[in-house]
Amino acid sequence: MSKLDYQLASEIIIFGALGDLSRRKLLPSLYQLEVAGLIHDDSRIIGAARQEHTLEEFKEIVLENLNLFVKEALDKDVVEKFLARMVYQQLNFKDSSSFTQLSKTVENANTTRIYYFSTAPSLYGDICAGLDCGNLITDLDRVIMEKPIGDSLESSKVINDQVSAHFKENQIYRIDHYLGKETVLNLLVLRFANSLFTNNWDRNSIDHVQITVAESVGIEGRWGFYDDAGQMRDMVQNHLLQILSLLAMEPPADLSAESIRAEKLKVVKALLPINRENIDEKTVRGQYTDGFLEGKSVPGYLNEEGANTSSTTESFVAIKTEIDNWRWSGVPFYLRTGKRMPNKHSEIVVHFKAQPHNIFKDSKADLPANKLTIRLQPDEGVELQMMNKIPGIASKMLIQENKLDLSFSETYEGSRVVDAYERLILEALNGNQSLFVSRDEVEAAWTWVDSIINAWNTSNEAPKPYAAGSWGPASAVSLIARDNRNWVE
Ligand code: BG6
Repeated sequence: MSKLDYQLASEIIIFGALGDLSRRKLLPSLYQLEVAGLIHDDSRIIGAARQEHTLEEFKEIVLENLNLFVKEALDKDVVEKFLARMVYQQLNFKDSSSFTQLSKTVENANTTRIYYFSTAPSLYGDICAGLDCGNLITDLDRVIMEKPIGDSLESSKVINDQVSAHFKENQIYRIDHYLGKETVLNLLVLRFANSLFTNNWDRNSIDHVQITVAESVGIEGRWGFYDDAGQMRDMVQNHLLQILSLLAMEPPADLSAESIRAEKLKVVKALLPINRENIDEKTVRGQYTDGFLEGKSVPGYLNEEGANTSSTTESFVAIKTEIDNWRWSGVPFYLRTGKRMPNKHSEIVVHFKAQPHNIFKDSKADLPANKLTIRLQPDEGVELQMMNKIPGIASKMLIQENKLDLSFSETYEGSRVVDAYERLILEALNGNQSLFVSRDEVEAAWTWVDSIINAWNTSNEAPKPYAAGSWGPASAVSLIARDNRNWVE
């Protein structure tokens, strides 16, 4: 059997190594891969950033962040091995000539180089040009790119073009960290390893689907960045559409990147367009005002530090969408996501159709339909709501709604929850693109999202206010109530 790629030595080069993402996620994830023995002994990690630092200073920064962001106690020997891999390279990303210094640092041309772009996307083009100038690109190399890839179809094309002028599509790994989450990956298993669901996963059995990705955090000091994006670009264009496409895609022939990406793409392309004609009926956007969370008062969006008080950026979005294909015709998918909601809580609820006839009227006038709840985070698990007989002797049959609950923390007690970035970095080291987003998917997602944003921009309506700590504006309730349905709270 041939070796997996991660068993071969590679150079991992992080551009923006001193940035927030690198400190909080990338370095701790690489450390966990080290703990698991998944980094080749001869691999090095090269931190590239604008600041001047000696190698010793860089190692101190790495250690400080491992202490802050690795949840488990650090293993002294592993830390030592990990730090010994570190190299620091001061670099001006905008100056191609400074990349010649990087080429001296990265000596071995036969090693796979993994370039992790963890900088502002506006620098991706400059970095690629610099790498080219330093003669630092071969067919073996790979690029991992963070979101946001643009803020519209047009701008995403510019970034993708800049990168693809230097790297082929099979060398480009676009990250959506939701694809690395255990529970999101489990959607594949749930759907395609259980005939119970595989055979009831369409318009004949399913009434509607709700996807909620709620966060209690606000915009965490990122006001400027967030205000340009808003919840639609920050969460819906990527994370929610990725969840939706894994949930709704046709069975892929296998687990290869080609098969999975092709099926996901078809879903996004089949989303019914939302535009000026139907925007009010299909969407609600909201913005949080002052409120209370966990007993503390928190400022509204416009009262956050650094806020532009006339901003109309949305911090909440609810959408009713439909997938215009054979499988899903007429089945609504209700999506909702927001900041400053009562708690961090992401789940998918699949509502099955009701029984056509009720023979238990004496016990229950209305038979509730089955509901499958997939708890994405926290308290990861899968729950099936079903009817059951209440045990005991009685003159009539008594029934009640109960649930089968597969809690991951109980079932897999003691197993560590792997961070999405650990899995994604490992997959990139291993050359597997199936958990990364193709250019076609990015573009299809922007096409659908742009149309909604344009429709919002042409209507003069401001986002609807909702108090921080609530489940969003009242109109989000009406969006689903119009169809005689309710959000699952
Ligand atoms: C990021 C968004 O992509 O995902 C953030 O930019 C958001 O605004 C975050 O808070 C949520 O990720 P997670 O893994 O905490 O659900």
